Amino acid sequence: MENDQNHDQPTDLERYAGLSRRRFIAAGALCGAAMFLGGGMLTRSALAQAVQATSTGLLGFDSIPAATTDTVTLPPGYKAQVLISWGQPLHADSPAFDPSGQADADTHQRQFGDNNDGMSFFPFPGNPDRALMAINNEYTNYRYLFEHGGMPVSQAEVHKALANEGVSVIEVRRQDGQWRFVQGSSYNRRIHGNSPLRFSGPAAGNALLKTAADPSGLHVLGTFQNCANGKTPWGTYLTCEENFTDCFGCSAQEQPLDAAQKRYGLTPASKDIGWHPHDERFDVTRNPNELNRHGWVVEIDPFDPQSVPVKRTALGRFKHENAAVSQTRDGRAVVYMGDDERGEFIYKFISRDRIDPANPKANRDLLDHGTLYVARFDAGDGNPDHPRGTGEWVALAHGEPGLTTADGFASQAEVLVHARLAATALKATRMDRPEWIVVSPLDGRVYCTLTNNSKRGDDGQPVGGPNPREKNVYGQVLRWNEHADDHGAMAFEWDLFLIAGNPASHPEGAKRGSPNITAQNMFNSPDGLGFDAAGRLWILTDGDMSNAGDFAGMGNNQMLAANPATGEIRRFMVGPVGCEVTGIAFAPDYCTLFVGIQHPGETGGSTFPEHLPGGKPRSSVMAITREDGGLIGA
Ligand code: FEO
Ligand code: CA
Ligand code: CA
Repeated sequence: MENDQNHDQPTDLERYAGLSRRRFIAAGALCGAAMFLGGGMLTRSALAQAVQATSTGLLGFDSIPAATTDTVTLPPGYKAQVLISWGQPLHADSPAFDPSGQADADTHQRQFGDNNDGMSFFPFPGNPDRALMAINNEYTNYRYLFEHGGMPVSQAEVHKALANEGVSVIEVRRQDGQWRFVQGSSYNRRIHGNSPLRFSGPAAGNALLKTAADPSGLHVLGTFQNCANGKTPWGTYLTCEENFTDCFGCSAQEQPLDAAQKRYGLTPASKDIGWHPHDERFDVTRNPNELNRHGWVVEIDPFDPQSVPVKRTALGRFKHENAAVSQTRDGRAVVYMGDDERGEFIYKFISRDRIDPANPKANRDLLDHGTLYVARFDAGDGNPDHPRGTGEWVALAHGEPGLTTADGFASQAEVLVHARLAATALKATRMDRPEWIVVSPLDGRVYCTLTNNSKRGDDGQPVGGPNPREKNVYGQVLRWNEHADDHGAMAFEWDLFLIAGNPASHPEGAKRGSPNITAQNMFNSPDGLGFDAAGRLWILTDGDMSNAGDFAGMGNNQMLAANPATGEIRRFMVGPVGCEVTGIAFAPDYCTLFVGIQHPGETGGSTFPEHLPGGKPRSSVMAITREDGGLIGA
């Protein structure tokens, strides 16, 4: 029988919030609800009031309706301004954006790249009005890049595509409360698919990374398919290489693929990108090892425009989404990472050495030494609304059972290059496409979007645990607490913070979603995540925007804010037609929110943001502020 007065057991609301009583009080105090919780004896109704007060205090805007317009829609009192758009000139002498599609690779290398994604904000020490931003440029859309609008037909066109991917570093300055891009800053820089980079860590120089062009296995040309990001406490930027295999193909169509090539998704025809017929670097038949030189996390010093970016091989090779940096109780760096493909894994890296907070440059090789782990989840309690369970981290360490030379891994370098194969040998849990991971600044809890998985329920992908739905079209947000609140722990407790769904179309059953999904806030395919300092969880979507069928009433891709303590979710922003909303960063005062609008009009139908008659849509970073200059979301 239920007992409202039993304070040794968590109540349903606490269970829903996923907090122990101690944690709930801590979170409540930080959110201004301590007055309700300090008295000891709490009835269910008092707790409900506390939850409501906490919720009201944290989410201070009215949820907006879904929309299908070619605009950025925000709650009353908020405004959005373009910070920078695809093709915008970076240097004083860079050519202006040419919508004709005739600009060459050299021109694009001096402009802001295409399809901006993850980004970080780096304030200048001692100057609150000056900062750098490092912004990923994930891929390019041939429909708008080329005058002919189709696949590349020459090596020059491949180089032009490569020039639009990678990273853009830009200076921004604040004047009258508005952050603006500074053209001509000496810090403005492109790191693109043709830039010189180097390898470090256990796989650097390994035979698997050696090519005819680089017999050392230490130097590599380019970073591309740069999805999301991370920021280290020592002031560097992490950019994550995601769908790199799509860029490769085979001139010999009958070429047999080895187990690793297959597992990383290589297809002889190349998936929708088509570089290999014109640039033999991407032809696996001729250059089999070039494929191994991509799929890494790259570290960049934005404040040194001459620095050579470094591919940190200790963090493993897979289709990296982002890199969430935290630290262990004893001060070592922890990097949480998802591998975004159906049935792939969640990883964390723990550095061998401690972060030196007094000397940033002393940490420059910290990510070269340490251990990579992969997550194993149990089947959980099977609660359809709010499943929870436990899990453990398993080390990808050469020589351990399953990872020996006899198992096909000759060295730790091979374990890292073939991290997917190694993690499979360790029986890691196959997840519903892990996208972004973030760590709560309030309680250290880790959140990860599992965006969707049309193959859940197929062989090798059992339904259950944190992946509870067959042919999962909506996605969910997973979270976990590391044991003893230590990111260095080897065990954790998990639950699902939300299970996306459509309660309007499916009032009953698995497609309804968890109780915190309503007809007013529903969305699909959570992807980007971000926390602000007050502990609001921002959720960005990359989903089906048909607004029909299972997705009726959801409209365009969007951004929502959630209260982690209560589970409440409100829709904050809706993006323009055909876009994905991805990439999030805050100014240090949390009065400006930067958010990315990627591929507006992906398949036509948009002229965002300029809305010129017949004009091309351009991916853009938006700066969102309040008309009264207040805190975003409060
Ligand atoms: Fe680039 Fe998995 O998103
Ligand atoms: Ca993503
Ligand atoms: Ca996605």
